[in-house]
Amino acid sequence: MQVRPRDPLPVPTDLKERCSHALAFAATQVRNLTERHPDLLPLYTRNGLWNHEGEAWTNWCEGFVAGQMWILYRHTRDPFWKDTAIHYSNLLRGREHDRDVHDLGFIFWSSWKRWHDETGDDALQDVIVQAGQTMGLRFKEKGQYLRSFVSDESIFIDIMMNVGIIFHAALATGDEELWNKVHAHCHTSRRYLVRGDGSTSHEGIFDLETGAFLRQTTHHGWRDDSSWARGLTWSMYGFGTVYTYTGDARFLQTAELNAQYYMEHTQHHGVPPNDWTEVNPASPYESSAAAIGACGFFQLARLVSDPVRARAYHEYACQIMETLTGPEFLAEGIDGWEGIMRHGVYLRRKGLGVNESVMWGDYFFLEALSRAMEYE
Ligand code: GLY
Repeated sequence: MQVRPRDPLPVPTDLKERCSHALAFAATQVRNLTERHPDLLPLYTRNGLWNHEGEAWTNWCEGFVAGQMWILYRHTRDPFWKDTAIHYSNLLRGREHDRDVHDLGFIFWSSWKRWHDETGDDALQDVIVQAGQTMGLRFKEKGQYLRSFVSDESIFIDIMMNVGIIFHAALATGDEELWNKVHAHCHTSRRYLVRGDGSTSHEGIFDLETGAFLRQTTHHGWRDDSSWARGLTWSMYGFGTVYTYTGDARFLQTAELNAQYYMEHTQHHGVPPNDWTEVNPASPYESSAAAIGACGFFQLARLVSDPVRARAYHEYACQIMETLTGPEFLAEGIDGWEGIMRHGVYLRRKGLGVNESVMWGDYFFLEALSRAMEYE
């Protein structure tokens, strides 16, 4: 049974004004990107610049430029943003069949799904549904999970943020088998990747012969038993979204457990480091986790029935947005900086995009601005 989120709680007027200002700055930066580097779909900046030869590790961010344009169109109704968003969404054509990544939710939810939501054009559904069906092909019967891009034996917490498109495809086509697979993946992730204290593991490894779970590991975090912040926010926002599709209260509980961990371990400003347990982090902040977290907290506030907890999540999301729209994080006035939000981290272990702008960070920052302004 699907759950419809309640109307959002009100956001203080001064924060809304800050968000509106940040959105105008974002529009300038996105327009500059399209003019300086037409059709470039980057992951992270180097010294604030998008165009460089840095390694990608995997290709998962290509939908987020179009996604930012669709959000800007939603707010401005400026035909420039619609035309540009359609152009950038079309650059993704063919990726709906891509079996090399577990990120088709990231790629198509931000772009084609928003395109569909804005225009109601049902002809777009074929591509969105295909992306969900392609994701379903990653399912491993033994172990009951969707495999990550690295190997058959591997599951990532990030996949929880990609399952929405599979639920969407299963619903649109009435495909019960696909629905059962994605549902099983969510239970497997909950069981093996979310810990009792609400922290999460980035990766899990299975025995391919027996399907038995072997161990928790990480590519992004400090240690295998530590807590990579962005992974936790993928989990919190992802499980909250899964609750809206399934109405299964266990998924809401998991999202709340993640939320509790986030609030208990993060300083008052609301921005975590790359890993909460790392002793000497390379940067004190991982702003993209905060932007994803803000979206997850805004969503939770509209899902839980207890008004006290709903208000607490809402106010926490507002606190994060107060911080992210301030001078430390908004790249406004930083000469030559091409991103929107500073102090993101991509892949700390490989030294990729550390203390930089990151494309998904900018996208979820815009989504959080949009939520704060009650457009989502
Ligand atoms: N690939 C998802 C992430 O880096 O968070």
